[in-house]
Amino acid sequence: MFCLPLLEKKFPALSRVPRLAIKPGEASKDIHTLNLVWEWLAAKGAGRDAVLINLGGGVISDIGGFAAGTYHRGIRYINIPTSLIGQVDAAIGGKTGINVDSLKNQAGLFYDPEGVIIDPVFLSTLPERHLRSGVAEIIKSAALSGGEIWERICFVKITDDQQWKSHILPTAHIKCSIVAADPFEKGQRKVLNFGHTFGHALETLSMRDGSKTLLHGEAVAAGMILEGVLSNRILNFPDQQLDRLTSLILHYFQPAPVLPDKAEDLLGLITKDKKSFGGIPGFSLLEETGKPVYDIVCGEAALREAISIFNSLVK
Ligand SMILES: NC(=O)c1ccc[n+]([C@@H]2O[C@H](COP(=O)([O-])OP(=O)(O)OC[C@H]3O[C@@H](n4cnc5c(N)ncnc54)[C@H](O)[C@@H]3O)[C@@H](O)[C@H]2O)c1
Repeated sequence: MFCLPLLEKKFPALSRVPRLAIKPGEASKDIHTLNLVWEWLAAKGAGRDAVLINLGGGVISDIGGFAAGTYHRGIRYINIPTSLIGQVDAAIGGKTGINVDSLKNQAGLFYDPEGVIIDPVFLSTLPERHLRSGVAEIIKSAALSGGEIWERICFVKITDDQQWKSHILPTAHIKCSIVAADPFEKGQRKVLNFGHTFGHALETLSMRDGSKTLLHGEAVAAGMILEGVLSNRILNFPDQQLDRLTSLILHYFQPAPVLPDKAEDLLGLITKDKKSFGGIPGFSLLEETGKPVYDIVCGEAALREAISIFNSLVK
């Protein structure tokens, strides 16, 4: 609605192509919407030479990429991300998917777009809460990368959308280089899941609860504190670095404590995470900022301790 006129202004020929609008929000990232896209492609007579253009946030690139990868056993697609999360993360790297029973990204494909067109101009209409949500993935990339990028995000607090925009290119580059080294997440790419094991479980719980849905970046922000604490307990991630990570996240986000009954649900969901092996979660953690590791097995006692320390940090 906001971005299509901007796109048509740049590419007038696009005003003549068929289009399908999808109801906004994470709840649309499901099998019903996927089916809607398949049916629409079929109704429009899209053949194997069709190209699907995904204009929107991470929900659109995830569903659109999955639809493109499965329709006629794979047609080409292009991502034009319009949210901050889309521009720094979701549209890049070929991970596509949908949620199943509110479980995040349970069905999906690795299927690369033909191209990703990133233009910060689209962000001018993105609501502030969604921009802020994107900061979580920027912080994650900086923590994985360490060095100058990490120092910059710690010292120069992002206060306006101009500054958010200045982080798009470096963050997109970090993702591209990690993905290029391991496109199918057999190893190194797993580091990008830092904050996401707890984060996805929190996101699922909030979708099921329905009262106050967490945005993806808000859930990942809380997940990074939880997994930062795990890193500290299990891998000796230094106290001072944990403090910096936590205070940086708390500068942008106000995560709620995990109440005792929710803690049980959270632990149950974590064992269903895609990154678990036979019910034992494999976490992506930090030995230091700039030194991520993956497939770290954490026992239930460590997870409970992390939740308890998290609660004391965010209260
Ligand atoms: N595939 C991946 O590698 C990957 C990586 C990170 C996140 N994700 C997924 O991405 C999703 C989160 O992405 P998101 O934060 O973009 O959510 P989203 O797609 O739901 O977009 C957020 C909201 O902003 C609106 N919006 C988007 N661009 C806008 C604009 N320019 N102006 C006004 N409104 C705009 C959308 O309609 C929506 O209401 C989650 O489902 C997450 O799992 C995927």
